[in-house]
Amino acid sequence: MSTFKAPKGTYDLIPPYSAKYLAVRDAISGPLRLSGYGYVETPGFEDVDLFARGVGESTDIVTKEMYTLTTKGGANLALRPEGTASVLRAALEANLHKAGGLPVKLWYSGSYYRYERPQKGRYRHFSQVGAEAIGAEDPALDAELIILADQAYRTLGLRNFRILLNSLGDKECRPVYREALQAFLGGLDLDEETVRRAEINPLRVLDDKRAEVQKQLVGAPMLRDYLCDACKAYHEEVRALITAAGVAFEDDEKLVRGLDYYTRTTFEFVHDGLGSQSAVGGGGRYDGLSEMIGGPALPSVGWALGVDRTVLALEAEGVELDIPPATSVFAVALGEAKPVLFGLVTELRKAGVAADISYGGKGLKGAMKDANRSGARFAIVAGDRDLAEGVVQLKDMESGEQSPVTVTDVVALLRTKLA
Ligand code: HAM
Repeated sequence: MSTFKAPKGTYDLIPPYSAKYLAVRDAISGPLRLSGYGYVETPGFEDVDLFARGVGESTDIVTKEMYTLTTKGGANLALRPEGTASVLRAALEANLHKAGGLPVKLWYSGSYYRYERPQKGRYRHFSQVGAEAIGAEDPALDAELIILADQAYRTLGLRNFRILLNSLGDKECRPVYREALQAFLGGLDLDEETVRRAEINPLRVLDDKRAEVQKQLVGAPMLRDYLCDACKAYHEEVRALITAAGVAFEDDEKLVRGLDYYTRTTFEFVHDGLGSQSAVGGGGRYDGLSEMIGGPALPSVGWALGVDRTVLALEAEGVELDIPPATSVFAVALGEAKPVLFGLVTELRKAGVAADISYGGKGLKGAMKDANRSGARFAIVAGDRDLAEGVVQLKDMESGEQSPVTVTDVVALLRTKLA
């Protein structure tokens, strides 16, 4: 062991376990790549004000959880706590919204950082795959994203997740509701921080998990009763499209989400096998965010799914992912056979066969142990005598059968056998 450990709230992804994370990222991004979403990658840190303005001054993310730093040049930066503000910033900076048709559809995958109290499913460094559809107000786009996330989870084999759906209204109806809610909250016995939050974004108070707060919220005005006709119609269309696609969801009028930029459609994917950190993913519409960060009006919608929690959800359901073995063919070279087998392994790799070879001048026993450990389906073993005859021994690692194959034929034969 070294003197150092991974920082608190973080963990390393180590093979073979790490293969699950790659498989999950692939499964989530697969449906997006088939639906017109292009890959975007942004820096791991941004101007701290991008998140302060975008994610919102009343959120835990901004007030408590950001990793901030001042550079030697005096710039105030934050490690990105989420992807939406960064992706929108990048799209605006590259003028993607002016380049062609809207929406601009983008997907991303990467690391995010939140200084949270670590527990199972909640880390200070975690990983998301996300999608953003920028610049169109169309219920079909909201529906598309929800359907694609559902498809990704189902492809992975997840079953016990639920989709919670709500509408948070728009700039017409939300202010009216906000005022009614603020008036209600003003009559409650709340701590100083919650009072402050009620002033900045009263809806977030509804999301407060503490029992003493929830108790007082009984009888609070509900947004559903304040939605304007346009928001109601929009939401009904989203619901109808998801229903028609056969995707089940639950209406959850208390769903607020932990970020301030949401308008209209909001949703969360929850898994009941995860304990308190049950949200495996979430998203929604953010029609005003572009203007909040200095851009033009660009109504948009998106989601991010947590890779760490998705892996935990798969484990909770006992789903075994179909991960191909890292190595299909393992070469064991004895005597002077190393250069020939090394050449064969290189050829196999070029032909798309996962191949490896024993290193470090091991004897037959040690090298065969490596072959077993690699999980390879076949081993090719050769010593001086085999090479003098122009053959290698091809060993089927499942049946244990072994037979000589001419050196010139072995690559083609293995390709056929493994096809
Ligand atoms: P979020 O709900 O904050 O949304 O995060 C999305 C997902 O990231 C969560 O459901 C969870 O799976 C995962 N996650 C968040 N924090 C942690 C953590 N500390 N440890 C492990 N996993 C975590 C957003 O980030 C929005 N940007 C989503 C979005 C995209 N909305 C519109 N477009």
